Amino acid sequence: MKITKSEFVISNTDVSKCPKDAIPEYAFIGRSNVGKSSLINMITGRTSLAKTSSTPGKTQLINHFKINDNWFLVDLPGYGYAQVSKSKRQTFQKFIKDYFLQREQLVCSFVLVDSRHAPQKIDVEFMQWLGENGIPFGIIFTKADKLKSSQLNKNIQSYKKELLKTWEELPINFVTSSAHKKGGEELLQFIDSVNQDVKDNFK
Ligand code: GTP
Ligand code: MG
Repeated sequence: MKITKSEFVISNTDVSKCPKDAIPEYAFIGRSNVGKSSLINMITGRTSLAKTSSTPGKTQLINHFKINDNWFLVDLPGYGYAQVSKSKRQTFQKFIKDYFLQREQLVCSFVLVDSRHAPQKIDVEFMQWLGENGIPFGIIFTKADKLKSSQLNKNIQSYKKELLKTWEELPINFVTSSAHKKGGEELLQFIDSVNQDVKDNFK
């Protein structure tokens, strides 16, 4: 699939105010600074459709982008950002969790993790929470350009091995680099196949 049209629709903190269009939706979630917004820009071929920053905590709202007029891509605030005050963090957590629990159009989420790091407790726990709530997700290993390919492969293998200690089966996973524009086609191919699979549910 090629993205030929991408448009920002709305930002908010309230799942009930998200767009009503009955079209499939995909969300990017993960720690602050992992590269969620950058990946949206990379796959849409836009430089600043989603706002990015080298300082964590840039995205603070639920942002809907309509793609090719027939599906949504959602950029969410990152979790695990220590500089945000405790009360703000709790508000974030509440509306993000409500989004995942209530958004009917959400067909698959992607948990982004930095390919340089071993599994972080907060990511593992978030994946656990998604699993417990029956929310389908895939994993995206980001910033692959920051590692040599041998180290990258080693990290991904050990990440998977760690997950297999708690998961019977691994979720689908992708390796991306927004800086080098890598991994976008595979991700879009997957989204395209899910769009086909769920088509009948959105009639
Ligand atoms: P929050 O909105 O704060 O949760 O962060 P985010 O996950 O949306 O991260 P964002 O896309 O804003 O990127 C954070 C920083 O990482 C920016 O400085 C990006 O340029 C950088 N970055 C993102 N993706 C990549 C990548 O693939 N490679 C490299 N080298 N840097 C990246
Ligand atoms: Mg962001």
